[in-house]
Amino acid sequence: MGKILVTGGTGFIGSHTCVALINAGYQVVVMDNLCNSKVEAIARIEMITGRHIRFYRTDMRDKHGVCQIFEDNKIDAVIHFAGWKAVGESVEKPLDYYENNLGGTLTLLEVMRQFQCPILIFSSSATVYGSHNPVPYQEDMPTSATNPYGYTKVMIEQILRDLCVAQHRFSAVALRYFNPIGAHESGLLGENPNGIPNNLVPYVAQVATGKLDCLRVFGNDYDTPDGTGVRDYIHVMDLAVGHVAALAYAVNHTGFEAINLGTGKGSSVLDVVRAYERASGRKIPIKVVERRAGDIATSYADPTKAKDLLGWETTYDLDKMCADSWKFTLQNPRGL
Ligand code: NAD
Ligand code: UD1
Repeated sequence: MGKILVTGGTGFIGSHTCVALINAGYQVVVMDNLCNSKVEAIARIEMITGRHIRFYRTDMRDKHGVCQIFEDNKIDAVIHFAGWKAVGESVEKPLDYYENNLGGTLTLLEVMRQFQCPILIFSSSATVYGSHNPVPYQEDMPTSATNPYGYTKVMIEQILRDLCVAQHRFSAVALRYFNPIGAHESGLLGENPNGIPNNLVPYVAQVATGKLDCLRVFGNDYDTPDGTGVRDYIHVMDLAVGHVAALAYAVNHTGFEAINLGTGKGSSVLDVVRAYERASGRKIPIKVVERRAGDIATSYADPTKAKDLLGWETTYDLDKMCADSWKFTLQNPRGL
């Protein structure tokens, strides 16, 4: 086991996972069309690891392009991050989301079959628990979605289940991420959203720098300890190491598994604001506004299955996540 194709490898989670894979002794080949990331991420990964990476600027929907990568390299396994992830945009452009996320994944799976590559680790999301399951979320709970983005995750998980029935030697692990935040501790890699961020921590980071005036807290009347939304924030490097553990598991097993990657601990919006104030030494002004449509009160993982099957647990707390996010923000004022 040696050469891993990382789709979406210049993106936020993919780039950190490349570092973790190289640290664990794997060779990495990256494929990305750069629609939501910069090629500079490759240089940063190389700076951190001191290793060369083969990069293909290829769209995963381009079958010839994807075949070329498998022809040039003997790929042992694929870690599949490539996809679009903006919930609101997916509601406005459902066909684009199904075409990119589902269409691209089908193309990739077809090429993997053609080249007899039997291992896939897929980026799923806690969003597949929908809005009716009780916390903590466990992998055997029913899945559902409330928007096209979420449906692409539910559907791709089903496609992988079906594929594992049809191809007995295939191994697929869907990792259900909770809320990834933070950055590599060097400050060289981090989250690099285009425009005004939708997610909490990238938004808070820009309030801390003064780029944005104040954080709008989406509701303080939820049934939670302080009334604000509770989420399971996970350090992106813990998440990255989770992929290395999933790969080791997939090599020795066949069939489909869905596995939560979370800490098992919930933090409120106000907890995050206070942690970011500690990390940055700056005041984060807030204003409570209406709830955001589609938000739920509380989401956190039961991380037991990841511990039992993968031997993996998180190691970083919210203060470290915010400190690393802040370091990246200060070192890269215009992003990568
Ligand atoms: P990201 O946007 O930073 O990375 C995704 C990468 O995929 C980008 O570099 C983009 O250029 C690339 N890409 C998109 N479409 C492509 C295509 N057709 N061909 C080739 N490359 C393509 O996002 P991320 O936060 O790193 O997320 C990675 C994966 O994890 C996504 O599938 C996302 O849905 C999933 N996920 C993310 C979160 C989160 O909070 N960040 C939570 C749950 C699941
Ligand atoms: C959002 C997506 C989810 C996706 C996840 C990771 C929605 C409805 N859900 O989840 O599908 O998997 O991102 O990409 O978009 N908050 C504020 N003010 C802000 C931003 C956020 O108060 O400006 C609050 C939210 O109400 C929530 C918490 O902060 O309680 C976290 O929000 P966010 O970072 O957007 O993540 P999720 O809502 O969990």
